[in-house]
Amino acid sequence: MSPTSFFAVWCIFFARLVSSAYIYPNGSRLDQIRSMYAWEGFVYDIEPCKTKSEMTADFAHMKSRGARTVITFDFCGTGADASYYDDIILAAETAGIFIIPLAWTLPIHVINQNYTANDTFLIKSVPRILAVTEAVIRNPGPVLAVAVGDEPLYDDDAGSPDALAYYINNMRSNFTAAGLHIPISISELAYGWQISGNITAVSDAVDFFMINEFPYFAQNAQAGGSSSSWQNLLTDMEYFETLANGRPLLITQTGWPSNEDEFGPNSPDVVASVASEEAYWDLLDGHCEDYFKTNNIGWMWRAYSDIIEGWGVIELNGTNKWPWAARLTC
Ligand SMILES: *[C@@H]1O[C@H](CO)[C@@H](O)[C@H](O)[C@H]1NC(C)=O
Ligand SMILES: *[C@@H]1O[C@H](CO)[C@@H](O)[C@H](O)[C@H]1NC(C)=O
Ligand SMILES: *[C@@H]1O[C@H](CO)[C@@H](O)[C@H](O)[C@H]1NC(C)=O
Ligand SMILES: *[C@@H]1O[C@H](CO)[C@@H](O)[C@H](O)[C@H]1NC(C)=O
Ligand SMILES: *[C@@H]1O[C@H](CO)[C@@H](O)[C@H](O)[C@H]1NC(C)=O
Ligand SMILES: *[C@@H]1O[C@H](CO)[C@@H](O)[C@H](O)[C@H]1NC(C)=O
Repeated sequence: MSPTSFFAVWCIFFARLVSSAYIYPNGSRLDQIRSMYAWEGFVYDIEPCKTKSEMTADFAHMKSRGARTVITFDFCGTGADASYYDDIILAAETAGIFIIPLAWTLPIHVINQNYTANDTFLIKSVPRILAVTEAVIRNPGPVLAVAVGDEPLYDDDAGSPDALAYYINNMRSNFTAAGLHIPISISELAYGWQISGNITAVSDAVDFFMINEFPYFAQNAQAGGSSSSWQNLLTDMEYFETLANGRPLLITQTGWPSNEDEFGPNSPDVVASVASEEAYWDLLDGHCEDYFKTNNIGWMWRAYSDIIEGWGVIELNGTNKWPWAARLTC
């Protein structure tokens, strides 16, 4: 490398250091994740394509109520516009909150859309993975980690665990080439891992485990605050402890809906109501000392608002569904 290009590289590196308000206290993002416990923040649906200032306002509101981290859900437009992920990350930076951008690998939105011939992983999903990668390399500061897919094993988005692992490893190579160590995972159900055959390639490819945990969907689900809700969570977490083999765990998506409109249950005894949603939130908060702190596990609530119908802590008009609050330490 010539002295001039060495100087240029050094300037870029220095600018990145000083421009980032994000300092990872224990030296790395993965250590930060390992040290996190209790309520961490929210799942944030980006399908409405809000502007940067609207997202900044939402993130600032979450932060004012104690949230530290936000993970995105779904996609805006085609989901392949890197500049929109720039906006999301910069909104998080302005609000002073960690962001986990999620590359949506289901070719279509979660509901209310039918597959067309073009709705394939290669045509629709891969461009989203590339767009997220590009935006994260441009704005790494507030990015705590990246998710390659929401339940991509459960939905078999990539066609095989090996194909999914290829894209995770490809993203990591590009981060490494840019001098970045950003943890990568998939936001997945225990059941998604369990039904996917030979998961070795994906399990080896992820740096830690982002967990989707929804006792609402269990065959024996009752109300949010029922002991079955907690038992089902513990059963799944024991599975993840074995799979992770010492790597950190973070519950990136958990929650309970106030109605059955967007996702129907599998149990005849389920209770979907605001009271049941509140009870599940309180159940999690109530296990701060004996579970989440003891095991260094954070939990993030799906969802921030009822854009995911029934699952938010706030209505579409911004009103609180109940007076929600959770401890950040215990
Ligand atoms: C750093 O890591 C240690 C040990 O895991 C933990 O006790 C501490 O809370 C962490 N500090 C921060 C600021 O994350
Ligand atoms: C999807 O297909 C189903 C069954 O053919 C149909 O009832 C529904 O209206 C379609 N939805 C959309 C959004 O086109
Ligand atoms: C699929 O994409 C091709 C190329 O962009 C386009 O010509 C075609 O109309 C699309 N088909 C559908 C069903 O959307
Ligand atoms: C990584 O970079 C290579 C070379 O520029 C590119 O072909 C590939 O699509 C990139 N992958 C991701 C996930 O961004
Ligand atoms: C499982 O997948 C890994 C990674 O692709 C492969 O190396 C291994 O041979 C597979 N194991 C079995 C039992 O097929
Ligand atoms: C907000 O929406 C909820 C649910 O639709 C409704 O009950 C409430 O009255 C609304 N509040 C305001 C201030 O409009």
